[in-house]
Amino acid sequence: MAAAVPVALTALLAASGPALAGPAAAAPARGGTVGAAGVGDPYFPLAGNGGYHVSHYGLTLSYDPGSRRLDGAAVLTARAAQRLTQFDLDLKGLTVTGVTVDHVKAGYRRDGQELVVTPRTPLRPGHAFRVTVAYHGVPAPVTDPDGSPDGWIPTDDGAFVAGEPQGAMTWFPADNHPLDKASYDFALTVPAGRTAVANGVFLGSRTAHGRSTFRWRQSEPMAAYLATATVGTFRVERYTTPDGLEVYDAVDPREAAAAAPVLKKLPSVLKWESGIFGPYPFRGAGAIVDHAPSVGFALETQSRPLYDSAPGLTTLVHENAHQWFGDSVSLTSWKDIWLNEGFATYAEWLYTEQHGGASAQKEFDKFYARPAGDALWAFPPGDPGNGGNIFATPVYVRGAMTLHELRRTVGDQAFFRILRAWAADRRDGHGDTAQFTALAQRVSGKDLRPLFHTWLLGQGKPARP
Ligand code: ARG
Ligand code: ZN
Repeated sequence: MAAAVPVALTALLAASGPALAGPAAAAPARGGTVGAAGVGDPYFPLAGNGGYHVSHYGLTLSYDPGSRRLDGAAVLTARAAQRLTQFDLDLKGLTVTGVTVDHVKAGYRRDGQELVVTPRTPLRPGHAFRVTVAYHGVPAPVTDPDGSPDGWIPTDDGAFVAGEPQGAMTWFPADNHPLDKASYDFALTVPAGRTAVANGVFLGSRTAHGRSTFRWRQSEPMAAYLATATVGTFRVERYTTPDGLEVYDAVDPREAAAAAPVLKKLPSVLKWESGIFGPYPFRGAGAIVDHAPSVGFALETQSRPLYDSAPGLTTLVHENAHQWFGDSVSLTSWKDIWLNEGFATYAEWLYTEQHGGASAQKEFDKFYARPAGDALWAFPPGDPGNGGNIFATPVYVRGAMTLHELRRTVGDQAFFRILRAWAADRRDGHGDTAQFTALAQRVSGKDLRPLFHTWLLGQGKPARP
């Protein structure tokens, strides 16, 4: 159904100025050879760092749930993007006991959430280098602008480790912004009887002297916020799906009965999602179902989503849809968060529609019926305004409504082609809002600027479509 463009929207389009948001502006450099303290994300100015890119993290951690002490050794493999006499890592709290660069002791100091490193000799542009950081302490989550805990969150039997958007820096030194993705190896040591679960593929465990070490490998690139090292008393189930995916589920026994019927559907959910979004992007799959009543959210930790209690089926669908939208195709700026949450929410609507439930149109209508003063219309999803809004209702629901309007405008065939092309073209990479809208226009051959301006950038409740 091609939508005519109502006059009021055309006016709004004209008034709303230049095209859709582009990538974040570059952070101001501190000086010619000093890496910037952030990548220039306006919502989180100190997130990530300038001057280099990380290709791999090797994290060797040991955690004692009794004392809550974490001991860590991080080995980062990176490449200098410019000449560097100094660069930063993001690390909040904890005590650093030593830093080396290319096996030589480096100078370092703490400056808020920045770990400022001064290599003995400057790094040449293009030079691949290795940084090691030894650290320990009692990690504490950060509190996000929306009030939620973020990072290493202690539980009664371990820790719930979820870092969106900022929390990775509470447990390892990182280039903590989705712009910089890397592969990971984990060796996680916990008291025998506890299990430590990370991302990707399980490589094995070994127990000696009352402690067990769990090794994990995330080989596809991953943003730091999607890393986990969740610790608890878990029941583990491993199997290979009929489609050949290696599944590792870890479930807190207190959640096991409620989780079982939903987890049983994981293979069919992933199969359905692969059918509409394209091939599942990672080697490992699964779920971590913790008992962490104080947390209040689930996270799409890469390859293995993390739930604070037994999830419902739509939550399972949502977090696994993020494997395509958010994890494999990453944000370049937190402002574009609707590309994650709007897509994962629309995946829920599609799943329900295709499994005997309400149509996506019905879902759209239900939300559209909310009055103009409702929180749903508080701000446009393409411009949340600040980091405190990135997980608010407009991002999820109006973001999904935007996709529904796109689908109505271009038709099912073009719509699903757009979703698949987005996931395929940018697999293991990045995408921003302007790139998505350009793709939608290219595939559909339609001028979609009015639609996107209205639904992504227009203030208040959009006029009846
Ligand atoms: N991305 C998560 C989801 O799938 C939400 C994370 C919320 N995090 C937070 N700090 N409020 O919906
Ligand atoms: Zn989500």
